[in-house]
Amino acid sequence: MESISIAVVSGDGSGPEMMAPALAIAIAAARKDGIRVIPEETPMGWKAYRNLGDTLPEASLKRAVEVGTVFFGGVGNPTLDKTIGVEFPEMKPEKKCLLALRKAMGLLLNFRPMIYFKELDYLANVRPETIPDEGIQQVWIRFLLQDSYFGNEDYANHPAVSTLIKPNDKITGNEDAVVDIAYYTREAIETYARAAFAYGRSVGLPVISVDKANVISRYVFWRKIVTRIGEEEFPDVPLCHQYVDAGAGLLLTPAKLHGVIICGNEHGDILSDGAAVAVGGMGLMQSSAINPKTGAAMFESGAGTAPTLAGTNTANPIGRILAGAMMLRHLGATKGAASIENAVKQAMKNGYRTADMLANNKGANAQESAGQLLSTSQMGKKIFELL
Ligand code: IPM
Ligand code: MG
Repeated sequence: MESISIAVVSGDGSGPEMMAPALAIAIAAARKDGIRVIPEETPMGWKAYRNLGDTLPEASLKRAVEVGTVFFGGVGNPTLDKTIGVEFPEMKPEKKCLLALRKAMGLLLNFRPMIYFKELDYLANVRPETIPDEGIQQVWIRFLLQDSYFGNEDYANHPAVSTLIKPNDKITGNEDAVVDIAYYTREAIETYARAAFAYGRSVGLPVISVDKANVISRYVFWRKIVTRIGEEEFPDVPLCHQYVDAGAGLLLTPAKLHGVIICGNEHGDILSDGAAVAVGGMGLMQSSAINPKTGAAMFESGAGTAPTLAGTNTANPIGRILAGAMMLRHLGATKGAASIENAVKQAMKNGYRTADMLANNKGANAQESAGQLLSTSQMGKKIFELL
């Protein structure tokens, strides 16, 4: 049996509660492909700060980069942000761990496929008839590096701009102006666009490119590059362009976003949450981040750390469990990946629900949404049994 090590970040808040079943399921499912997944906990986040004095211990970062596959349980905690985070703002884990990890591993492409379950129609926040088919509707591929997320850091030593930038923890609110640098490089957009077009070709979906090329320079640049790569290298893959504001409107008519949607880092952060909530909710969102050159990858879920539910064993683990399926597919365990996806589908058909999936919509049909209320661990157990 082939053995593959993965770095696991159980994370903060409800992270560990969702990670436990997701990991057990991924390990069991990978055996179907003759793969033994060996998890190695690499502590990060506020919990790591408490135990080891750093939200990103050097050994954890080093090991995660070496292993090259990270199963990520989310980091951050709004309560600790207001206590330890005020004293040590540089330790805030969203930036210190998550962004550092994305950068260190070169995770340029962030896949966020939106899966729609017929049984969960009542959870859709758009009219169900605007969602075309069951299954994957939209594959968001967010550009995960550069842009405003990394501009200040990447240009910190640039003589022309270094005086304009202030670190977040030094901002008082009394400055005359604070500048964020947002940028894209040609090489990165080209690599990203090629990978996205190739993905669209492989799954037979068109590419929808979201930008703000009517006013913002880096998106004029983006559109020219995407158009050129599409025309020259992928003439068989249909391409259309959407301005980001129009794209936000289309979240309410998911059928119009049927395709591979490519978008900038900031735009993708915002729009992908909206896309997930439109068809079912954040608890169902799975996410992977990939370095298309080295194959390094990280797998997470939209539920993040669900801080308000921490310790209650009620967070929805399905996004995390499905992220485990994405991880298995990436590692070559395709049977295992499919068995997780089928088990989740069956669990939805059987009416298993976590608290967020019961009638939380105004006017939701109580009959439809009535299912069996399960805790995080119970949902994990049911899906495990269905593998
Ligand atoms: C996400 C998250 C992160 C982001 C935060 C936690 C830094 O919202 O993965 O979408 O903005 O990228
Ligand atoms: Mg986000």
